[in-house]
Amino acid sequence: MRMTETWIKDELAALRDLGLERGLSSLDGKGGESGGAGALLNFSSNDYLSLARDPRVMAAAMAAVKQYGAGAAASRLVTGTLGCHQQLEEQLAVLKGYPSALVFGSGYATNVGIISALAGRGDHIFIDRLAHASLIDAAILSRARVHRFHHNDAGHLGELGRACPVGGRRLVVTESVFSMDGDVAPLAELAHVAEREGLMMMVDEAHATGVFGPAGAGVVSRDRVGSAVNCSMGTLSKALGGYGGFVACSAEMRAWFIQKARSFIYSTALPPAMVGAACGALEVLRAEPAIGSLLLTRAAAFRARLKDLGVDTGGSQSQIIPVMVGDNDKAVRLQRRLLNQGILAVAIRPPTVPRGTARLRLSVTLAHSPETLDRVAGVIAEAARAEGVRS
Ligand SMILES: Cc1ncc(COP(=O)(O)O)c(C=O)c1O
Repeated sequence: MRMTETWIKDELAALRDLGLERGLSSLDGKGGESGGAGALLNFSSNDYLSLARDPRVMAAAMAAVKQYGAGAAASRLVTGTLGCHQQLEEQLAVLKGYPSALVFGSGYATNVGIISALAGRGDHIFIDRLAHASLIDAAILSRARVHRFHHNDAGHLGELGRACPVGGRRLVVTESVFSMDGDVAPLAELAHVAEREGLMMMVDEAHATGVFGPAGAGVVSRDRVGSAVNCSMGTLSKALGGYGGFVACSAEMRAWFIQKARSFIYSTALPPAMVGAACGALEVLRAEPAIGSLLLTRAAAFRARLKDLGVDTGGSQSQIIPVMVGDNDKAVRLQRRLLNQGILAVAIRPPTVPRGTARLRLSVTLAHSPETLDRVAGVIAEAARAEGVRS
């Protein structure tokens, strides 16, 4: 360690003392449904539909590599736009029910790019208090004034909208399925307020795409609020099993993003393998449009079982099910206790979630059979009791 870096050691020690130090560990593909020797049951994966290792998706990725190569070799605006990007954007627009779509390097890059293209200095962003870090970072980077409304509270959004000084563009930002709580935003109510107050609205469907709505179109589609939602963002990295992000919107807004979204302009285009994988995953969704609702049915049964056993699952209404703990160290101890029983459920602590709300974030995937879910609910309830986690 260089002398100029000694402060890092102190800062890391301070995080450790607070029970907030994070670490990296490799599963090397050991997570999954099965109980093969040394295998862990992975309850922390966002591969909700088990498409990351689906042979159809992997074959589509490999076919794209063969046709287009390993990398796109330039930004989309230079020579990076390939036929496969255009095909993927057409398919995403159809899935989402919007006139057009634009693909970015990641979900994070999508949020940063589109939000700062829609609002800047002198403008206003109204954002849910529990919105994902990528949305918060995007709002901060945009230089717009940021107003945070109470979680899922359309009334408070309305109050903030009315109290906001006149002038400037105004944008509402929310997730549809919240990444750490698994609850679902009241999009119809929020959209109603946005329309009444003349606000633009952007919805992050990272955890809804592929799972909620007709054939995995998302909550915007399920709740039929597309007319009030100017743009619907999604990621290719969760239920679709690959990597990359996108936004679905009007043709004009897409053209605007191409001019102004800096994370789109100043970054190399999404590599062909990931474009191919996403096209393969969308084909699976078209062939099996009910897999998202199958996942939600299994998740609902698992949640009900956990609740019956006295586990506090917060406001979850989706495949994301928190086991609310509160204390940071206790959450980590619970994680360890489950790990000893072959269950991987990673503890989520501040600043990812508000202080005092540490939890295990469980995600149900199609790799978990109903029998496994039933058994795991029992193990979790017992472990939580042993750790003194109150329900
Ligand atoms: C709500 C939400 N939005 C955006 C992202 C970023 O997506 P990506 O992982 O594709 O960068 C995430 C990822 O965790 C997320 O949970």
